[in-house]
Amino acid sequence: MSKNETILPRRTFAIISHPDAGKTTLTEKFLHLGGMLRSAGTVKGKKTGKYATSDWMEIEKQRGISVTSSVIQFIYQDNMINLLDTPGHEDFSEDTYRTLTAVDTAVMVIDGTKGIEEQTVKLFKVCKMRGIPILTFINKLDREGKDPLELLEEIEDVLGIETYPVTWPSGMGKGFNGVYNRFEKRFEKYDENGEGHMLPLDIDGETNPDALDEMAFEQLQEEVMLLEEAGDAFSKEKVAAGELTPVFFGSAITGFGVQSFLDAFIHLSNAPQPRNSTIGEIGPEHEEFSGFIFKIQANMNPAHRDRIAFLRVCSGEFERGMTVKLTRTGKAIKLSQSSQFFAASRETVDKAYPGDIIGIYDTGNYQIGDTLAASNGELQFEALPTFPPELFAKVYAKNALKQKHFYKGIEQLVQEGAIQLYKTPFFEDYIIGAVGELQFQVFEHRMNNEYNVNIVMERQKYGIAKWIVDGEVKDNISDSRKLLVKDQHERSVLLFENDFSLRWFEDKNPDIKLGGPERIK
Ligand code: G4P
Repeated sequence: MSKNETILPRRTFAIISHPDAGKTTLTEKFLHLGGMLRSAGTVKGKKTGKYATSDWMEIEKQRGISVTSSVIQFIYQDNMINLLDTPGHEDFSEDTYRTLTAVDTAVMVIDGTKGIEEQTVKLFKVCKMRGIPILTFINKLDREGKDPLELLEEIEDVLGIETYPVTWPSGMGKGFNGVYNRFEKRFEKYDENGEGHMLPLDIDGETNPDALDEMAFEQLQEEVMLLEEAGDAFSKEKVAAGELTPVFFGSAITGFGVQSFLDAFIHLSNAPQPRNSTIGEIGPEHEEFSGFIFKIQANMNPAHRDRIAFLRVCSGEFERGMTVKLTRTGKAIKLSQSSQFFAASRETVDKAYPGDIIGIYDTGNYQIGDTLAASNGELQFEALPTFPPELFAKVYAKNALKQKHFYKGIEQLVQEGAIQLYKTPFFEDYIIGAVGELQFQVFEHRMNNEYNVNIVMERQKYGIAKWIVDGEVKDNISDSRKLLVKDQHERSVLLFENDFSLRWFEDKNPDIKLGGPERIK
């Protein structure tokens, strides 16, 4: 990193969208505008292949999907931007949730021909919970889509967030003229071969014939007036709190609307925000180095068989070779040669600042949610959210002689947070739990490929996990409708078949208090 890069303001964000809304295409355009500095993992470039920097997971190659989050960094208008990718598969995992804890802003991409889709809703909820700014890009205006006003209504009704369209489209599909930018008071004329032309336009006055014909102008004028009168007022505070989303219309594939989106993004997104810790909020102004690990990725490079822990820097300055303390164990760790920026490019990073994400080499020291802080610190960041699994399978090695590989594989993948593990009392059967189906497939594939063990997975009929918060149950309580297991932290968990069996149990056992997964300290 050159010297002047170090002092640039930071912006750290992720794109949330339903598959096929255009996240990859938009990312490619961002990189064209910003100039990519370095990348980690996969940025799949379906069309050009240009940014498909690495396909390190076999399963991604086979399926053509992105199952692991990656990070890219680029500079735009003197801002250092960290963009964290989230899995693009419709199946959904904890990995995505955790990645969202490491960002300060989210960009929501909506396919204008489809409106709000299922996965957008789920991802949106996580962002809303964290109260971070959410900027919306409504994509594919080059195609006939839903009515823009209807789309806004949908966002407000389905997602429960106020909207403020910063740009407003004139026409769509074959009749798409461009967008009026309410901030810049200009018309951005659509050009399918490029960025579009910025033309001054007084929306309350006469049309600019270079921008729009009279008829289109009148309709635009009417619609913008309606927005001014009946729409939500713009409030930067509301944006910062995640209560109002600025909306932009464009066409990622042609690059139209992307630049004005990024220009506004710089102003509307959050700078690196503080995170809660045991000693209060820790933000960028805190002098000593601190950060937390939100993701661990094993075997990014099969030739190296290594693990990379992804750390978000929260405060101070990361310097290669520095000694930090892993708060969970109290162990001092030197982040020396092994500290690298992202395995894909094998580039070494010497310094990093609050908001940056660094990949550090892990020989088995780290767990998801770990805090690394200046050597004498007692600081521990708030635990990352854990999610109750909804899918369960009993798992064992096909070949009993492979037990050692089996245990090692499970241990590492559980530590990595790829899967949740439960054991039954007495027999100690291994039951794995997942939030999404894909987690199982990835688990099986990795056990096979990375740990050389074929496994048998027997799907279980349970769908609800409840932790026993208060009261005691007997070890032999399991029956055909429920199963008692212990989680990784030896806490008792009951797996129920469905809501009915859960309610039945609660009625019969008023003394036993059930709850969600408590945060692990
Ligand atoms: P994702 O990462 O969110 O899953 O979406 P991605 O960018 O891969 O885009 C999904 C599909 O939508 C791609 O077409 C892509 O070319 C198309 N697309 C993206 N942005 C726009 C846009 O602004 N307008 C139009 N008309 N299409 C857009 P595909 O046919 O699935 O892939 P490909 O085979 O063309 O690469």
